[in-house]
Amino acid sequence: MNILDQKFAEFHELPTEEKIEYFSKNGRLFDMIISQQLNREIIDNIYEITNRIRHISKTRAGSFFLQNILFHKRVMLYFAQPSSRTFLSFENACHILGMKTSEIRDARVSSEVKGESFDDSLRTFSSYTDLIIMRHKGQDMAERAAWLMNTRTNRPVPIINGGSGSDQHPTQAMLDVYTLQYSFAKQGGLDGKTIMMCGDLKRGRTVRSLSYLLKNFEDVKIIYAAPQAFQMKEDVCSFLEKHKIPFHIETEALDNVLSEADAIYMTRIQDEHDAIAGESGKTDTSRFKLKPSDMTKIRPSAIIMHPFPRRDEIDVAIDSDPRAMYWRQERNGMWIRAALIAYIFNVHEEILNY
Ligand code: NCD
Repeated sequence: MNILDQKFAEFHELPTEEKIEYFSKNGRLFDMIISQQLNREIIDNIYEITNRIRHISKTRAGSFFLQNILFHKRVMLYFAQPSSRTFLSFENACHILGMKTSEIRDARVSSEVKGESFDDSLRTFSSYTDLIIMRHKGQDMAERAAWLMNTRTNRPVPIINGGSGSDQHPTQAMLDVYTLQYSFAKQGGLDGKTIMMCGDLKRGRTVRSLSYLLKNFEDVKIIYAAPQAFQMKEDVCSFLEKHKIPFHIETEALDNVLSEADAIYMTRIQDEHDAIAGESGKTDTSRFKLKPSDMTKIRPSAIIMHPFPRRDEIDVAIDSDPRAMYWRQERNGMWIRAALIAYIFNVHEEILNY
């Protein structure tokens, strides 16, 4: 263990509330690492900016205005793990705001193959750019990057976590909650709704981040539908208990709880995290898939979501049902990510005043 590993291990053990302080500057959000950093005020603010950006970008003049907003800033997109949506939506979000982007999409083409450490690679990215957006298979690497910037460099750049191991994916949770708020706009928003999450809850970082984010809404109930082997981990469950958010665990079949949900959030089995190859295949997941025949059991006002990529958790025949919200959810990602970046760089007032 080198000195940085030791110091980071100490930081990592701090209570979440203390760590969150490190991810802020002058009382404002600086890094976006975990969902617990977000409160209702920040969430509502970012969604207001999202709506404005969407609207302004409809015209050529508006789009030109937006491209001037962060014209002078450069971004590093460091995606050391496969990504389609998160990468493309972040890249396009940066371009909406006029930012210049550089990318490494595969650690095999970075100096890490020559033996460079993660820490040195990150410092190098920060030498040339003003923001690092990253995805990494390592559990705490986004947190480590933010810690490194804030404690070991004199020119810290913000870090945005685009997915860290099987731990968190906070910007996915932001776009998910935006989609929920938007879909239930005429029914009082997300407050008071029952959200069901189904699939690999144990290793799915999207459902973990979403669960943490739901704390900011009133009277929300959660149903976790998955075989026991893929059920939500203890850390998230005790967070929900601490914050008095009721949750129900269903391990038999999706069918048992389908009619109770306002939103059905499906996810795939995250078998890339298998300790032994093929391990996930040993659990029968057949009763946790959405079939066309299930649609009559789902509430008429309910919505179906998925962070994607999907395999066979949602039959493609369901795509044409008006309750299928996943394609819209995917598009929302780009807009909320543009809003988040504008918020972090504190240029959102200009957008709101346009
Ligand atoms: C998710 C991810 O990478 O965590 N996808 C995404 O970012 N939209 C979900 C997944 O890979 O299953």
